[in-house]
Amino acid sequence: MTSSFDSIEAAQEAAKRNLWLHFTRMSAYADSDVPVIVRGSGPYVFDQHGKRYLDGLAGLFVSQVGHGRTEIAEAGARQAGELAYFPLWSYAHPKAIELAARLADMAPGDLNRVFFTTSGSEAVESAWKLAKQYFKLTGQPGRYKVISRELAYHGTSMGALAVTGLADIKGPFEPLPPGGVRVPNTNFYRAPEFVADDLDAFGQWAADEIERAILREGPSSVAAVYLEPVQNSGGCFPPPPGYFQRVREICDEYGVLLVSDEVICAFGRLGYYFGSERYGYQPDIITFAKGVTSGYSPLGGMMVRDELMEPFTEGTATFLHGITFAGHPVSTAVALANLDIFEKEDLLGNVRTNEPAFRATLEKLTDLPIVGEVRGAGYFYGIELVKDKETRETFSDDESERLLRGFLSHALFDAGLVCRADDRGDPVIQLSPPLICGQEHFDEMEQILREVLTEAAKQL
Ligand SMILES: Cc1ncc(COP(=O)(O)O)c(C=O)c1O
Repeated sequence: MTSSFDSIEAAQEAAKRNLWLHFTRMSAYADSDVPVIVRGSGPYVFDQHGKRYLDGLAGLFVSQVGHGRTEIAEAGARQAGELAYFPLWSYAHPKAIELAARLADMAPGDLNRVFFTTSGSEAVESAWKLAKQYFKLTGQPGRYKVISRELAYHGTSMGALAVTGLADIKGPFEPLPPGGVRVPNTNFYRAPEFVADDLDAFGQWAADEIERAILREGPSSVAAVYLEPVQNSGGCFPPPPGYFQRVREICDEYGVLLVSDEVICAFGRLGYYFGSERYGYQPDIITFAKGVTSGYSPLGGMMVRDELMEPFTEGTATFLHGITFAGHPVSTAVALANLDIFEKEDLLGNVRTNEPAFRATLEKLTDLPIVGEVRGAGYFYGIELVKDKETRETFSDDESERLLRGFLSHALFDAGLVCRADDRGDPVIQLSPPLICGQEHFDEMEQILREVLTEAAKQL
C-alpha cells in the first residue's frame, strides 16, 4: 500500500479516528473496516488488500475514461510545473481559455459562455445566482424562485440544497434560502393511475405540472426550472417522449430559464456530450462537473446562452460571484486531456453502440422476484427492487433498512462490485460504469447482481 502508515491496521485506525466520511453513518465502522481503495486500472479499482472491484458507479458518476490514465496525470503534472495556480478573477490562463472555447464548440445552440466552478453544487448555486442577478439587471427583480422535481438531488451547499427535492437531507439545515418549489418527477413506474397506461400522456401531465407550479407561484416570481436529462435520485428516471419539448414551451411562455443540470448526464454518460442533445432540447444554462475531468482533478461549471451574458457586457455590471479554485489550471489541463481521450477512443460511439447490450444484460435480472424494473439510458441505469412484482408493492422502511443498508450494500461490495444501493426514493440499485466498459463488464455486473439479489430475496 502506498501510504505513510507502517501497516494496514495503522491506516485503519487513523481512518476511524481522523477521517469524516461524507453521507456516511460513521457508527457503521465501529466494528468493521473502512473500505480503503488504493488504486485503479481501467474499470477496476483495488483495495488495500489487493482485492479487485468492478467500478460499476465510475466512482460517483465521475470516472468516464476509467482509472490509471497516465496521459491525463501527465497533463496535470505538466501544467502544475508551468503554472500551478492563478485565479480567474480578472485574469485568464491558457488552459481555461482553451477549455471554455472547446466546451462552447461542443455545447448545443448559443451556450457560448463558460463560468467555471470546482464542483456540481457550486455550478447549481452559480446558476441560481446568475438567474437572480440577471433578472434584477433586466427589470424583473421579483424573479427568484426555482422549480425542481421531487427526489431530485442537485447538491449540498445551502442554495443547491434548496433546489434539491430530498426532504431527509434538507431537514437538519432548515431554514434554507427561500424559493425552492417542487413538481413531480418522471417516474413512470409509479405514475398516477389516470396516466399510468400512457407514457405520452404521463409526460405531458408531468411537464404541465411545471406550468401549474409557475402559475400557482406567480410567473413574475419564478426565475428558473432545474431538471436533469435523466433524473438520478430515485433511480434513473428518463424523460417521457415530448417532456422536454413541452417544458421548453412553458419556460418560453413564462420567461423562465431552463437549467439542464448535467452534473451526471454530460460527458458521455448518455452517449452524447450533453444529455440535452440526446433529448433534443435547448437549455438556457447547462451545469456540469464530474465527467468533465473523469475525476483526475476537480472541476465544474455552467455554460450559459449569449443572451444571459449581455447585461454583464456593459458599463459597471459585474456578476458578483467567484470561487478561488474555480477553473484551476491543473483541472482545466486535465479536462482537455480527458476530452482528447473521448475523441481518440470514440467513447460516445462506444456508449451508443453498447447501450442496447448493457440494457439487455441488466434486463435479464427481471426474472428475479425482487427486481421490479430496469430503467435508464446510455451507461446509466437504476434497478428498482420490489417486495411484490405483481402489485409493485415496495418495502417498508424497516425492510428497506435491513435490505439495503443491512445487506445489499456490503454484499455487493464484498462480491466485487462498486454500485449504489439507494433508498432515497423507493429502493434501487444504480449502475453508471466507466464509458470504456463492454460486454464482459456488463456480464460481470449481471452475475454479481444475480447472486446477491437472489440471496437478498431469500433473506426477506
Ligand atoms: C445532478 C447533480 N447536481 C449537482 C450535484 C452536486 O455535485 P457535487 O457533489 O460535485 O457538488 C450532483 C452530485 O451528484 C448531481 O448529481
